[in-house]
Amino acid sequence: MSAKPTVFSGIQPSGNLHIGNYLGAIKNFAANQAQYHNYFCVVDHHAITLPQEPAALRQQTLELANAYLAAGLDPTEVTLFVQSHVSEHTEMGWMLNTFVYFGELKRMTQFKEKAGKRQEEVNVGIFDYPVLMAADIVLYDADFVPVGEDQRQHVELTRDIANRVNYRLGEGTLVVPEALIKKEGARIMGLDDPTKKMSKSATTPRNYIALLDDADTIRQKLRAAVTDSGADIRAGEDKPAVTNLLTIYSLFADVPVPVLEERYAGKGYADFKRDLTDVVIDSLAPFQARLRELDANPDYTAAVLKEGAERARAKASTVLTRVKGRMGYVLPFS
Ligand code: TYM
Repeated sequence: MSAKPTVFSGIQPSGNLHIGNYLGAIKNFAANQAQYHNYFCVVDHHAITLPQEPAALRQQTLELANAYLAAGLDPTEVTLFVQSHVSEHTEMGWMLNTFVYFGELKRMTQFKEKAGKRQEEVNVGIFDYPVLMAADIVLYDADFVPVGEDQRQHVELTRDIANRVNYRLGEGTLVVPEALIKKEGARIMGLDDPTKKMSKSATTPRNYIALLDDADTIRQKLRAAVTDSGADIRAGEDKPAVTNLLTIYSLFADVPVPVLEERYAGKGYADFKRDLTDVVIDSLAPFQARLRELDANPDYTAAVLKEGAERARAKASTVLTRVKGRMGYVLPFS
């Protein structure tokens, strides 16, 4: 048994990974891995809640596994696996469904955003998605769930579910997890519209910088990034676009925002954007190089994911059996 607290987090292989995913999630996973007992997952079951081209889903799944590795996750320190390789996730999801209310899921912000006015027409997977996410987390007795701000509500729901399970089936059935959300970078906004978060499913690629964008593309996207009225480079509620760009700069360069504000006092957007562009390109370059190496060596990734699934299954199956036993299921005869 590890004395370290356990961390679980997942990312959907559902499109272009972007610097919001990196700064809000992956970078922190890698930076803090030595402090925790870690499980990181490629949540392919979540990705299919929107139709995925089969070939694209396959490619995105492996690419996301490589992105975790390229960001510095060490497979000896971390259990890295694909959700669908551990069937306990869907089984636990089914059981947890019976502890969740229809109205609760209907009130989830992400559901409301995704379903819009067409709630009656969206697939049930989109509706039920937070319950599978709760299953992901509780299967590993996770203490902490590092995520961006947009997932806070889903972790809160997971806590409610775990508490309900414990009330019905006895204390200690499930660990009640806590979200770990950084103050900086938890909500990187769109480059084309700083009032909405940067998103994989954005309608235009000008919304995001993808982790695989080349230098020219990054240059163009940052040149086109919207700014606020007034020339000064400072953060503030009245300056959502510049605040976002300062946050991105600060996290990549590891320089606090107030220091940047001082550095650019009296200078214009042109200087600021030029330096920001260099910082983003230079910070992503080593990550992109490692990603290319990993892409060229699929056997390595396969071996990591195979071992990850075995380790994950070993833990998940004990938790699943614990819950089934307490619910009164007849456990399989051995
Ligand atoms: P997903 O795949 O949308 O996003 C992966 C991670 O990136 C964070 N993120 C952001 N952070 C900052 N700024 C942004 N603009 C931004 N956009 C995304 C997300 O908060 C997340 O941490 N439901 C989850 C996947 C999931 C999961 C889980 C997470 C499934 N099971 C269990 C934690 C634990 C999702 O759709 O993330």
